[in-house]
Amino acid sequence: MTEYAWDHLIQEGRVHRSLYTDEGVFALEMTRVFGHVWTYLGHETEIPNPNDFKLTKLGLRPVILTRDAKGELHALFNRCMHRGVTICAEHAGNAKRFVCPYHGWAYGNTGKLIGVPHSEGYGEAFEMGAFDLKRVPRVASYRGFVFGTLSETMPSIEDHLGGARAALDAFIDRAPVGQLIVRAGAYRGAFNGNWKLVWDNAADGYHVQFAHKSLVDMTNKRYAQGRGADYMASPDNSPIYAEVFERGHTFLHHRPGMGPSLWERARPTPGGEAYAAQLADRRGDAEARAALEGAPGFGMNLNIFPNLLIIANQIQVVEPLAVNRTQLTWYATHLAGAEPEVNVLRMRIAEDFPNFGEVDDMEMFERCQEGLAVPEAEWVDCSRGLYAANGADDAARKVRPTDEATMRNYFRAYKMLMQSGGAYACS
Ligand code: FES
Ligand SMILES: [Fe+2]
Repeated sequence: MTEYAWDHLIQEGRVHRSLYTDEGVFALEMTRVFGHVWTYLGHETEIPNPNDFKLTKLGLRPVILTRDAKGELHALFNRCMHRGVTICAEHAGNAKRFVCPYHGWAYGNTGKLIGVPHSEGYGEAFEMGAFDLKRVPRVASYRGFVFGTLSETMPSIEDHLGGARAALDAFIDRAPVGQLIVRAGAYRGAFNGNWKLVWDNAADGYHVQFAHKSLVDMTNKRYAQGRGADYMASPDNSPIYAEVFERGHTFLHHRPGMGPSLWERARPTPGGEAYAAQLADRRGDAEARAALEGAPGFGMNLNIFPNLLIIANQIQVVEPLAVNRTQLTWYATHLAGAEPEVNVLRMRIAEDFPNFGEVDDMEMFERCQEGLAVPEAEWVDCSRGLYAANGADDAARKVRPTDEATMRNYFRAYKMLMQSGGAYACS
């Protein structure tokens, strides 16, 4: 396999276009990043009952995430040990076993091979135990978020989350009983571009006033001092800030600029007034108002490298399909223990940004990919704000929202992984 001059390709304030266009780079990423790093596979509440399963991916590897009869989680490669067929085609369901459609080999939901048709044809030496499904060797759940890694040396999921953990906790703790429920469907979209374009954008407060102008204008027309006001005036003079964490995680925090009530800042929602009135009838005004604070987005973009983004009140998963093709899925979330009206409104609000905002981003991603095809223009610039580090550690700063420290930060983690073959030098 070709090795690359990573120090040349990833410099402090610029990265080379080939990182977005080169098939060989992409192939290496699928093991050095998607594989070695804890990668988000799904949420426990998607498979709440014994024998539930759902399909997912670890990079390009098809995976079945199962819960066995005893409630244990397994991440099994969806690949028959006979000749390689994917043994499960259902997106999700409940099954004690998976039977390969090609020659009928049967596997339990723990991955154990339990049946081989006409097994006498293999002779006495055939060992069933040698043909159990291969699996993602380490699977860990953090408060319902399930991650997998191929690496034996990757530290615990808690250590991996590091500084991002507190923000993830805050997102989960909006639920009255401290648990999210991910069983409310998803919004899916794919674009013709590299998966890292999503990361370049994930904590980018620079593009909002331009790429999302129509959305911000609409918000401001409705609410003169709406959330968009910060972006249209001067985001760097607003209370919004960005933060970077070790291992590539980033955080863009709008909440400080959003005033005391998130519900009052929410954009119009289909049925919003009726549901709020219904809740007030049942619970009284004060209790209803407090509960409705759980409905809107939390005013943060929390990005957990390499594939989990927490945006508004939902979970976005980044799934690379090819060097120039990426699948995005936005899972709506419910709050366990919340009033039913609040959870319905979370659904309606979850439909807002993918429809009104993400389409802008996806157009930019596709146009980036198109532009990056120009060999004569080699570099992607990410130097904004670097001067302000002034010799200090760029990664240790809380930065202004338009600062590209967030992009530099994930590329720092990425470079470490690509150079080391999939390990972090840091603890
Ligand atoms: S490929 Fe699965 S049984 Fe043959
Ligand atoms: Fe955006």
